[in-house]
Amino acid sequence: MRISDKAAARLKELGAELRQGVSLAEKTSLGIGGTTDEILLGRYEAIPEVMGLLADEHIPHRFLGGGTNVLIVDGELPWVVLHLPTAKPGMRVEGRAAYVDASADLGGMVTFCAKHDLGGMEGLIGVPGSVGGALRMNAGAYGTQIGPHVREVELYRAASGQIETLRGSDIHFDYRHTSFAPDDLMLRVKLELPAKPYKEIIAGIKVCNEKRRASQPLNQKSAGCIFKNPAGGSAGRMIDELGLKGHRVGDAMVSDRHANFFVNAGRASCSDMLELIDDVRERVRGAYGMELENEVIVWRN
Ligand code: EPU
Repeated sequence: MRISDKAAARLKELGAELRQGVSLAEKTSLGIGGTTDEILLGRYEAIPEVMGLLADEHIPHRFLGGGTNVLIVDGELPWVVLHLPTAKPGMRVEGRAAYVDASADLGGMVTFCAKHDLGGMEGLIGVPGSVGGALRMNAGAYGTQIGPHVREVELYRAASGQIETLRGSDIHFDYRHTSFAPDDLMLRVKLELPAKPYKEIIAGIKVCNEKRRASQPLNQKSAGCIFKNPAGGSAGRMIDELGLKGHRVGDAMVSDRHANFFVNAGRASCSDMLELIDDVRERVRGAYGMELENEVIVWRN
């Protein structure tokens, strides 16, 4: 999707930066995705006007956060992607509250809070991605989820065209699911965290890091777990029991380390990965009668 010169000039006036012909394969942890124009948003206050401009010009768009849980179609993409500015995201602590910009790195936020003796998020340390993405998906690992710590979220809501603040108690956080609308754009969060000595938090972080290193393919291109765990079951264990580790379609491969991680072992295309996902889903359905739901978010045309 290409932006007209007129719209580009107006975006510049609004403090947004336009980058043309960006490869999303370079912006995603899977290393898969086509090409499009990218808009780097500037001041939060200007976002409603930027969004108004895109609506007036009939420019379809999508928000991309850390790019660590998304599978994007190849080729010339029919939407522009919008990013929050990632340089120096705001993070501060006041008592047991942490105020963090959505563009901050999730792990960076966990260690920042640890340095202020605020814990409770040790399990999230190795989850790749941004704070905004973690909020949207209610990211979790090792018994920790971000949702229960959320007290307020400031976000741009496409439905109202405005920046709003939601109370944590008005947001539903379930397992890898939230009540945010798909076109809500997270901007900032206020978390309330338990006080804990730094040393204790670091010890907890070390344990999680070791568990993760021992069981997940951290050095390969992936989007983390491909499927959600079905109630009472483990997607990884079922796929493993079916002997599918190393199973591949082109360069899309079921990790030989953790069977719910599908890796890009070379130059996998989006259709390779989609074919592998469908194939594995079908095999699990056939063997266990269970329908696996995607955890990875798929952007198709
Ligand atoms: N297992 C196997 N073979 C495998 C993988 C797992 O037998 O190839 C077995 C394990 O031995 C264990 C069980 O399956 O008994 C569960 O495995 P694991 O502890 O690795 O956790 P998981 O349920 O597969 C979940 C999250 C991960 C998170 C870990 C740690 C989901 C879909 N996945 O994985 O999150 O890091 O727990 O808490 O909920 C993600 O969301 O992308 C993600 C990676």
